[in-house]
Amino acid sequence: MSLFLSLTVISVLYASANAGISWNAAPFNPPAVPLAVRSPYLNVWLAQGAGAQLNDVWPTFWTGSILGWAGYVKVDGTTYTFLGSPGNNGTQKAVQKDLTWTSTQSIFIMTAGGIDLTANFLSPVDPTNLVNQSLPFSYLAVSVASNDGDSHSVQVYSDISAEWISGNDSLIANWNTTTGSVLIHQVQLTNQSMFAEILDHTQYGSAYYSTSNTDGVTYQTGEDLVVRGQFIANGTLLNTQDTEFRAIQDRWPVFAFAHDLGTVKAVTGPVLFSVGHVRDPAIEYIVATGGRQNRSLYFWSQYSTVDAAVVDFHADYGNALSVAKAYDAQVQSDASKVSSNYADIVALSIRQALATVELTISRSSNGSWNTSDVMTFMKEISSSGDVSTVDVIYPSWPIFLYTNPELGKYLLLPLFEYQASGQYPNQWSVHDLGGPYPQALGHNDECGNMLIMTLSYTQFTSDESLIKAYYNLLDQWTLFLISDSLVPANQLSTDNFAGALANQTNLAIKGIVGIKAMSVIANLTGDSSKADNYSSISSSYAEQFLEFATSTSGHHLTLAYGNDSSWSLSYNLYADKLLNTQIFSESVYQMQDAWYSNVANLYGVPLDTRHTYTESDWEIWMAAIATTSQTRDIFIDSVQKYASSGASNVPFGD
Ligand SMILES: *[C@@H]1O[C@H](CO)[C@@H](O)[C@H](O)[C@H]1NC(C)=O
Ligand SMILES: *[C@@H]1O[C@H](CO)[C@@H](O)[C@H](O)[C@H]1NC(C)=O
Ligand SMILES: *[C@@H]1O[C@H](CO)[C@@H](O)[C@H](O)[C@H]1NC(C)=O
Ligand SMILES: *[C@@H]1O[C@H](CO)[C@@H](O)[C@H](O)[C@H]1NC(C)=O
Ligand SMILES: *[C@@H]1O[C@H](CO)[C@@H](O)[C@H](O)[C@H]1NC(C)=O
Ligand SMILES: *[C@@H]1O[C@H](CO)[C@@H](O)[C@H](O)[C@H]1NC(C)=O
Ligand SMILES: *[C@@H]1O[C@H](CO)[C@@H](O)[C@H](O)[C@H]1NC(C)=O
Ligand SMILES: *[C@@H]1O[C@H](CO)[C@@H](O)[C@H](O)[C@H]1NC(C)=O
Ligand SMILES: *[C@@H]1O[C@H](CO)[C@@H](O)[C@H](O)[C@H]1NC(C)=O
Ligand SMILES: *[C@@H]1O[C@H](CO)[C@@H](O)[C@H](O)[C@H]1NC(C)=O
Ligand SMILES: *[C@@H]1O[C@H](CO)[C@@H](O)[C@H](O)[C@H]1NC(C)=O
Ligand SMILES: *[C@@H]1O[C@H](CO)[C@@H](O)[C@H](O)[C@H]1NC(C)=O
Repeated sequence: MSLFLSLTVISVLYASANAGISWNAAPFNPPAVPLAVRSPYLNVWLAQGAGAQLNDVWPTFWTGSILGWAGYVKVDGTTYTFLGSPGNNGTQKAVQKDLTWTSTQSIFIMTAGGIDLTANFLSPVDPTNLVNQSLPFSYLAVSVASNDGDSHSVQVYSDISAEWISGNDSLIANWNTTTGSVLIHQVQLTNQSMFAEILDHTQYGSAYYSTSNTDGVTYQTGEDLVVRGQFIANGTLLNTQDTEFRAIQDRWPVFAFAHDLGTVKAVTGPVLFSVGHVRDPAIEYIVATGGRQNRSLYFWSQYSTVDAAVVDFHADYGNALSVAKAYDAQVQSDASKVSSNYADIVALSIRQALATVELTISRSSNGSWNTSDVMTFMKEISSSGDVSTVDVIYPSWPIFLYTNPELGKYLLLPLFEYQASGQYPNQWSVHDLGGPYPQALGHNDECGNMLIMTLSYTQFTSDESLIKAYYNLLDQWTLFLISDSLVPANQLSTDNFAGALANQTNLAIKGIVGIKAMSVIANLTGDSSKADNYSSISSSYAEQFLEFATSTSGHHLTLAYGNDSSWSLSYNLYADKLLNTQIFSESVYQMQDAWYSNVANLYGVPLDTRHTYTESDWEIWMAAIATTSQTRDIFIDSVQKYASSGASNVPFGD
């Protein structure tokens, strides 16, 4: 099933919701600003909504629950809060001056008395380097500079709470601190529940908060009021550890660092912090004959301890920042070829999309890591929490084709292997791998999606391994489409919240393109008689389809056969373009284009005539297949308008 997220309000006007914002925002103020967004469990946002400064509210998990993350800067003896909402105990609030975000960075500039502080939240995206991409860590780099020409005495402080390790703050945590070239606070539940979640938070593994061990650094763990109070009073911490392990919410233990930067005039820093959450194993996966396999994040192939990975992550910051800037510029340049609003939407989506997946490897029988066995798993965030849901992978598929199609292959592999193992009883394709995440233990109609994704992967990479290894499975799914797709039974679509319906035209389109995709696959493998047969079946279906599906006015496709006044977003036509199968003629696209421009609302075109809501993912697919730039921009600009409206404060809808 698909996500039913934030792009739900079509007709409500919020045009002036963020009129009170005083800072400069580029490209705009998004619903939530990504702070540390790298995995389903390291997924931390500033719920910005109609306008919240970095120090107006606490950072939150994607669900909205608080993740304590505090920051102070002390300037000539006066303490200012710059991050989080740790209370006003003799402190002032820095004033947000600027927010700039890109595909990988969210950069805030805050004025605190005589200095300006820059906080860069960098969540690296390195899709072709599997070691780096699988490291569940993000950077916070803080630099300061005088803003009035004078020198100032400056100390910087930051901590996290134990809220990062559980969805239940009554549970007992323990922690410790190591002091090598990087200072590392590690915190975890005393009772670890393997593979378990509470309210979407993981219940095992550890959170890490680290900082570089440079001159003037101090650390402390203990009750929030005490540790923060120490910094406020003194500007340094005591290098002590509180070892009275207790519940997350019992005199809230925090894990803090302070850096004394001395006298500052020119740009000083950055002071580097990193935050992460690591579980091992990451995924429990079903293998042949009901067996279970533990799978670990890819980075373990390079590191034998988390601390070693953290030390390298810190040492690599300079390089990571240049790689990030180059990546941001590449995305900006590629996406700007469509439009500036499109580039903004892509930049806002990249971290979020890649953080829904985890890259894993298994062990060989002798215990060594098997880096030939890479599989990626996706968490279906914000609805069922299932693993590797085919119709949630499907709308995100273009971002994998763009960033690195291999990541797409690694996402499809566990689905293929599970179904090839014979444990799945149906003729049609599985919907997901069970759940909730991270237990991929199987689940007992996603045939078109699988065919379309598999062929597009093959076309993008010329790697025929998937179509060769799973040819029979792909053919089996096609037979299901041949019997079911022209006249789709009464069923839910991916937009399951919209309700079940027979004869949905958009489902028929996907099935018909799926049959044609198998024709191309058969042709690639030299099976030309099958290729010819499936090609003629799909052409004949497409012809019959247009008779069933075109409204009598001839102005649009209907939502369901025979219901003349109905219509829907025919976003599955995207597959016909992506694969260049040319099953539907240009006149179909032109008819749809002309229609949508008549029925667009403030935030876009409704999903279908049953409701007024829509989905940002399908609007963007509609933009991709538009025949005119005017229609394309109706879709893109309405998604941008929604994202910049202040109408929501949750992470961007799918
Ligand atoms: C949270 O933990 C407490 C203490 O173990 C327990 O009593 C409570 O039921 C738990 N709540 C949830 C939602 O797990
Ligand atoms: C910190 O605690 C974790 C979990 O108990 C443990 O694995 C690790 O070895 C400890 N580190 C130190 C330096 O004590
Ligand atoms: C850990 O779990 C066990 C069994 O559920 C329970 O007896 C014990 O009290 C728990 N310990 C803590 C520290 O929560
Ligand atoms: C203020 O800080 C002092 C330590 O300097 C601490 O004892 C006190 O509890 C704090 N009060 C609040 C409301 O944070
Ligand atoms: C801060 O603590 C240090 C070490 O205990 C002490 O020498 C210094 O005087 C204190 N400074 C302030 C302003 O309290
Ligand atoms: C997977 O890891 C868990 C936790 O370490 C362990 O209890 C379980 O036995 C492992 N399963 C397999 C199949 O190795
Ligand atoms: C990624 O990983 C490699 C080695 O695994 C390392 O040398 C490199 O600096 C890392 N960082 C980036 C940003 O590529
Ligand atoms: C490593 O994984 C690959 C792909 O699953 C498999 O073919 C190979 O046998 C595995 N190697 C070992 C040593 O287990
Ligand atoms: C474990 O098996 C792998 C794959 O067969 C092999 O490359 C590696 O050398 C083996 N390691 C040990 C310690 O035997
Ligand atoms: C579905 O459409 C077909 C072809 O137009 C029609 O024969 C059939 O009655 C329709 N089914 C339903 C349930 O409307
Ligand atoms: C199969 O491929 C050949 C060679 O590219 C092409 O001429 C033919 O039209 C293809 N057949 C189908 C059904 O796509
Ligand atoms: C085409 O494929 C369908 C479905 O497998 C089959 O029923 C039909 O006999 C095939 N036709 C030809 C001419 O091979």
